[in-house]
Amino acid sequence: MGNLERLYSERAGKMRKSVIRELLKVAQDPEIISFAGGLPNPNSFPIDDLNTIIQAVMRNHGKSALQYGTTQGLTELRKNLAERAYKDGIEDVTADNVIITNGSQQALDMVGKLFLNPGDTALVGSPTYLGGINAFKSYESNLTGIPLDKDGMRMDVLEDTIKEMIHDDVIPKFIYVVPTFQNPSGVVMPEKRRKELIDIAHEYDVVIVEDDPYGKLNYDIDHVKPIKAFDDDDGRVIYMSTFSKILAPGFRLAWTIASEELTRKMVICKQALDLCTNTFTQYIANEFTRQGSLDLHILKINEMYEPKRDQMISAIEQYFPEGYTCNKPHGGMFAWVTLPEGIDTETMFLDAIKHKVAYVHGKAFHVDGGGQRSMRLNFSYSSNDQIEEGIKRLATVIQERLNTIKA
Ligand SMILES: Cc1ncc(COP(=O)(O)O)c(C=O)c1O
Repeated sequence: MGNLERLYSERAGKMRKSVIRELLKVAQDPEIISFAGGLPNPNSFPIDDLNTIIQAVMRNHGKSALQYGTTQGLTELRKNLAERAYKDGIEDVTADNVIITNGSQQALDMVGKLFLNPGDTALVGSPTYLGGINAFKSYESNLTGIPLDKDGMRMDVLEDTIKEMIHDDVIPKFIYVVPTFQNPSGVVMPEKRRKELIDIAHEYDVVIVEDDPYGKLNYDIDHVKPIKAFDDDDGRVIYMSTFSKILAPGFRLAWTIASEELTRKMVICKQALDLCTNTFTQYIANEFTRQGSLDLHILKINEMYEPKRDQMISAIEQYFPEGYTCNKPHGGMFAWVTLPEGIDTETMFLDAIKHKVAYVHGKAFHVDGGGQRSMRLNFSYSSNDQIEEGIKRLATVIQERLNTIKA
């Protein structure tokens, strides 16, 4: 083939490889202790239970489980998820408000497709989930970062930014938030701020995209209702969650909950993407959820991850050189560490790989160049021994960096 470059779309020319995917490749070296990916612990996968369910699905639903399904997804699974959402505080929900997607990543892409023309602006946390940034950027949009504090996205900055944009004739299309055990910072937006966010979105007529993969990985706080639970008046919140962190990411199953109007539109976007989500895994997940196994499984995962979180935090406290800050997340999969002045976690990554330990550098989660001194550390994937050893290795890497800065 000759020069492909002249044939690619402008969009393709602007596409960049995902830093996370590249890191996951490096982290596949078995000698590397990887705190990089957002991977569940494979020992948590309920392989035997799923094996039994798979056989039952084949026996009882084989003909439809192997067939194409509707674009919106399996009705029984949508009903199940609507009932679960109701229990979590989202009252105005039926199966008609639910779409089953190929992972939340697909739902993020659908949101981009639905709202973003080239040059449009959306508001995202600073920091925020890297896959969200990638999905929205692929529609050639501009992303404006809104800083977080210990309670998540700052509403004062959000409102000032929206006012400025409107003053400059820019319409903010949506606000993307991960309000519970945020990726990467781990923070939780309290109920009061969730309501403020709804008020701001209402006042300036902006959509909210609420991404909630980690809400159920809750180790020690009371359940906080989703933002969608306060979306009483006009259905401006698109909520999404996923089976990836509470069952198995290999299933590629997630779901959105939105008004019927938005759901109709998103279904049209999805038709062109994949016709339908994997029917077979929808049957399996439906059976697992229906039997009550999902809730028991979530309890088991939390019992496995909470000590891993504790171990990582105490290893950091024990081994990291002074001058860092680190949250103790109440849920999710990540510790977020900020290192002393002068350290660049992006360039330090190569040193870390030499010492056989991996993380994701903070800049990857910022649309505005921030996060230079920060890093995200996943604690769900590694064994307890690996956590201890990996943090020790990382502490050595950091100390060496500090020595060269001081020298
Ligand atoms: C905040 C956030 N949103 C979406 C996703 C994508 O999840 P899925 O596996 O459902 O595509 C992730 C995965 O790490 C995530 O952290």
